[in-house]
Amino acid sequence: MAAGWARPAGFALLVVVVLAAAASADRPARGGLSVTAGAEESSAVFPLYGDVYPHGLYYVAMSIGNPPRPYFLDVDTGSDLTWLQCDAPCVSCSKVPHPLYRPTKNKLVPCVDQMCAALHGGLTGRHKCDSPKQQCDYEIKYADQGSSLGVLVTDSFALRLANSSIVRPGLAFGCGYDQQVGSSTEVSATDGVLGLGSGSVSLLSQLKQHGITKNVVGHCLSTRGGGFLFFGDDIVPYSRATWAPMARSTSRNYYSPGSANLYFGGRPLGVRPMEVVFDSGSSFTYFSAQPYQALVDAIKGDLSKNLKEVPDHSLPLCWKGKKPFKSVLDVKKEFKTVVLSFSNGKKALMEIPPENYLIVTKYGNACLGILNGSEVGLKDLNIVGDITMQDQMVIYDNERGQIGWIRAPCDRIPKFGSSLLDNTIHGFEDGYCWPQFPNIIGYQNEQSEVCYSSITK
Ligand SMILES: *[C@@H]1O[C@H](CO)[C@@H](O)[C@H](O)[C@H]1NC(C)=O
Ligand SMILES: *[C@@H]1O[C@H](CO)[C@@H](O)[C@H](O)[C@H]1NC(C)=O
Repeated sequence: MAAGWARPAGFALLVVVVLAAAASADRPARGGLSVTAGAEESSAVFPLYGDVYPHGLYYVAMSIGNPPRPYFLDVDTGSDLTWLQCDAPCVSCSKVPHPLYRPTKNKLVPCVDQMCAALHGGLTGRHKCDSPKQQCDYEIKYADQGSSLGVLVTDSFALRLANSSIVRPGLAFGCGYDQQVGSSTEVSATDGVLGLGSGSVSLLSQLKQHGITKNVVGHCLSTRGGGFLFFGDDIVPYSRATWAPMARSTSRNYYSPGSANLYFGGRPLGVRPMEVVFDSGSSFTYFSAQPYQALVDAIKGDLSKNLKEVPDHSLPLCWKGKKPFKSVLDVKKEFKTVVLSFSNGKKALMEIPPENYLIVTKYGNACLGILNGSEVGLKDLNIVGDITMQDQMVIYDNERGQIGWIRAPCDRIPKFGSSLLDNTIHGFEDGYCWPQFPNIIGYQNEQSEVCYSSITK
C-alpha cells in the first residue's frame, strides 16, 4: 500500500473475482429444502476474540477434525470460503497460533462434487474437471491483495447447539498450502478465515443443508474487545431490530442492504447514493472518494479549537486534544453522528456515533476510522467494517433476504436456559438470565429464555 501508515491486520477480506466476472449461480436456496426435512433447526453461539484497535480483527475458535482441535478463524461475512493454513505440505504459510491442519487423502473433495462446482463458480464463474478423480483446487484473492491457494477438503466441525445437542457435521473448507498475506505481519493472529457469505460454499449454507441451523448468521462486536457470533435465528430480535432487504443487484455474494444516503449531524452531505456492503472481515469502514471527501470536509468544518490535526502512524487522519485521550469517550462530544439512510424497501437508518467511527491510538490521538476506499482500489463500493458495527447485533438473514441491526451489549454472551451452551473452548462461567437483565435492547425471543455471561479473555 502506498499510504505511509501501518495498517492493522484484516483490512477487507472481500473476495475479488479472479477471472471473468461471470454472474454466479451460487445463490443460496432461500427457505429451500434441507436434507433432514421436518427436523427443527437449532442455533450455535460462539464467543469472539479480538478488537478493531490494535489487533484489527475479530476471530472465533472452532473445533475441527477428529479428534477435534481448536483453530482461530477470522470472521468474514465478505467471502464464502472457510480455509485453514494447512500442512499439505505447506509451501507458504505464516506463523499461526495452532499446529497446521493436516488433511488425509480420504478428506479430499473431488472436483466433480457439487461443492467444488459451487466454489469454482463463485470464484471465477468457471468449473472444469479433467478427470473424475481430480481434487478440487482453488485460489482465492482478497481485496487487500492477500490470497490462499489450496485444495477443498471435508472434515468434522464440533458444534454445541442451543437445544443441548453436540453435532459433528462434515463440512467442506479449504486446506490452504500457499498463502500470500495482504497485510504486512508475518505472524498471523488466526489459523484461517471463516467464510460466512451467502454462497453455497459458506459454512452457514452448509449448516443449513445439513438441517442444523437456519441460514442466518449474526455478530455482536464489543468496543471493549470480544463479543459473540451466532448461527441460526433463536436469539434474533426480529420485531425490534432495524431491517433492510438484501440488495440482489451485485453478482457476488456480498451482503448489501442496498444504497444509502449520507448524513452528518442531521444534515445530508449531498453525495450520490452509496452502494454499501457489510463486511466483518474489514476492521475499518471505507467510503469511496466522493462521500469520503464530503465527510472529511464536514468533520473538519465542524471541529472545535480543542482539537488539532496531527500525524499519527496508525491512520491517515488524526487529531490531538489538550491532553492525550484515553478512550473515545473522552472525545466523542466533539464529534457528530453520521447516519446512513437505506432506502431499499422501508427506510432504515444506521446511526454511526463517534465511537463507531473513531479510534484512540496508543499515542492518545483520535483518528478517523472511516478511510478512503478509492485509495485502496475499492472503486464505488462502500464497506461498513467492524468499527461501525461494534456494540450492535448485526444479523444477516438469508432465509428472509434481509439484513438487520440493533444496539446491544456485545460483551454479554447470550445463553439458553441455565446451562452453558455456547461453544467456548477456553472456559468461563458466570451466567445470569432474563429477566435479571431487563434493560438491554434486543436478545429476547418469543420462545426461548436467554441468559448471559461475561466473556473472560
Ligand atoms: C437439536 O437440533 C439438531 C439439529 O436440528 C438435531 O439434529 C438434534 O436432534 C436436536 N436435539 C434435540 C435434543 O432436540
Ligand atoms: C481518495 O482517493 C482518491 C484515489 O486515490 C484520491 O483521488 C482522492 O483525492 C482521495 N480523497 C481524499 C479526500 O484524500
